[in-house]
Amino acid sequence: MSNESLANLLKEERRFEPPADLAAAANVTAEAYEQAKADRLGFWAEQARQLTWATEPTQTLDWSNPPFAKWFADGKLNVAYNCVDRHVEAGHGDRVAIHFEGEPADDTRTITYAELQREVSKAANALTELGVRAGDRVAIYLPMIPEAVFAMLACARIGAPHSVVFGGFSADALAARIEDADARVVITSDGGYRRGKPSALKPAVDEALTRPGTENVRNVLVVRRTGEDTAWTEGRDVWWHELVDGQSDRHTPEAFDAEHPLFILYTSGTTGKPKGILHTTGGYLTQTAYTHRAVFDLKPETDVYWCTADVGWVTGHSYIVYGPLANGATEVLYEGTPDTPHQGRWWEIVQKYGVTLLYTAPTAIRACMKWGDDIPAKFDLSSLRVLGSVGEPINPEAWIWYRKNIGGDRTPIVDTWWQTETGAIMVSPLPGVTATKPGSAQIPLPGISATVVDDEAKEVGNGGGGYLVVTEPWPSMLRTIWGDDQRYLDTYWSRFENRYFAGDGAKKDTDGDIWLLGRVDDVMLVSGHNISTTEVESALVSHPKVAEAAVVGATDPQTTQSIVAFVILRGNVDAEAEGEALVTELRNHVAKHLGPIAKPKRILPVAELPKTRSGKIMRRLLRDVAENRALGDVTTLTDSSVMELIQSKLPGAS
Ligand code: WT7
Repeated sequence: MSNESLANLLKEERRFEPPADLAAAANVTAEAYEQAKADRLGFWAEQARQLTWATEPTQTLDWSNPPFAKWFADGKLNVAYNCVDRHVEAGHGDRVAIHFEGEPADDTRTITYAELQREVSKAANALTELGVRAGDRVAIYLPMIPEAVFAMLACARIGAPHSVVFGGFSADALAARIEDADARVVITSDGGYRRGKPSALKPAVDEALTRPGTENVRNVLVVRRTGEDTAWTEGRDVWWHELVDGQSDRHTPEAFDAEHPLFILYTSGTTGKPKGILHTTGGYLTQTAYTHRAVFDLKPETDVYWCTADVGWVTGHSYIVYGPLANGATEVLYEGTPDTPHQGRWWEIVQKYGVTLLYTAPTAIRACMKWGDDIPAKFDLSSLRVLGSVGEPINPEAWIWYRKNIGGDRTPIVDTWWQTETGAIMVSPLPGVTATKPGSAQIPLPGISATVVDDEAKEVGNGGGGYLVVTEPWPSMLRTIWGDDQRYLDTYWSRFENRYFAGDGAKKDTDGDIWLLGRVDDVMLVSGHNISTTEVESALVSHPKVAEAAVVGATDPQTTQSIVAFVILRGNVDAEAEGEALVTELRNHVAKHLGPIAKPKRILPVAELPKTRSGKIMRRLLRDVAENRALGDVTTLTDSSVMELIQSKLPGAS
């Protein structure tokens, strides 16, 4: 991105120093950067030693066949033992592992590490009874209930790679994932709770298993969650409570090679056929545990941690299941949505459990901004000490809102950049070290080498823009795309030589801090200038009447593309009453912030935006609308009626 006039957002002057008490007692200090710089592999070998190995590794990285990495290759360990048993053996069996909060308000369950050990052992014995062996793939299609965690850890315990499919995905999406991974067993439930009502899941499994390519599924293990009637296929379907509850609660974990596959997770992707991202054992657990300890400053004896993601996404894998449990954390697991039965539900949960570390996504923060400051103000949020953000660039104003209204103007915010492919956090502030900057993920973590390069692979600085790349292998990196090494090479390693191409646009400011600018596919070209959708969106969100914005480039005969913005106004603004005057005000606001070139040609106030189920805006669909085209594939949308609503608002809509 070359346009100098768009450097304004990089002139963010606000800085927030770490609180003195947090800095004084921080798990990780500035020294870690120096140590890792002096000896990167030695640094990671030291982090690996925080795990409990059956056979300690003597090798760190084998990069003899790049970009196919092996980390700690001669070591052996069991992931479930590390996440569960070793805490019990260390005398922490009575510590709460999971505070489960179901969507129905009185539906809660407290699970200690000792109980988790029994539940995971029983589930491991049950899977073994179903004939699941090390290396066999198991698909998991469950709501956010404790059994999802038990099932993942049981698979890890017996060396059966899991493929978790988000419970909101359709039968088609599930069938495609079962087929690609050639799963032998599917673990599901009769249903879950969504917005106050039971919502069935099992019918989607039944339908998926009628599709060609899924014939190798022998059994469906079904958790009873809602108690609603469910169709049953004798001989194939098995109730969890009938099979698992009767098993022995003792199970001896077997040690697996550090490079044994741990899971496959399909990227939600806004384009193309989903990619089965493969993660393995030792390096993945090393980096998820380290980053969770470093970025959240986790103190397992006193902290209560809550990551609001779904276990169906990588955030749930790395920062609900593997990282926190490897560290012996106490955490909240919540089944429902933020606004059921009321828009203060999350803050009520923070207050109830005394949550200290909260990890959520910008899309949720912007929704809360829209609902209004008075809602979180009703709850006691004083227990919070670190707030995290992940999933998209966080607009500076959303960052400030989060810090002020949720963090009491006190807590550091860690804006964590990473991907399904990276397995764990890569670029982020450290809460006890970094003076944070609203909107910037800032610098690579200790032991991570990442930078921004231009089209010619030259490193940029001083406000220069280009592409985020990772320049050295890292322990939790994807090992390949399941069954498709060539696609792994083409997608990530062919754009630049010896550098991992993340697919994100980025800039580096004069302090050397990194700003993420969205997926490169989303960058707009207006009269010869590359303009980032993220920057225009952030400029819009910095206006007091705007809660959320999505910007796309629409084909334009004069300017190649013209900027079209869809905006959600804050709760107290009346779009009808304000009319054209507001649109003009917003266009001028963007021009003032970013320069006239970035002024949107059209601005359309809307009630909702189309999002993928992981909360990312589907700009592709908005482009279809802006260009008056028939809509493309809407199957990954959370709510397909959103698009009809948006289209009906357009001038000249049919
Ligand atoms: C893409 C990866 C990482 C877990 C959730 C998403 C975007 C993620 C940030 C951030 C700016 C971010 C990137 C990335 N992204 N975190 N802090 N700042 N952008 O995992 O579905 O694999 O998506 O999410 O575009 O490439 P994912």
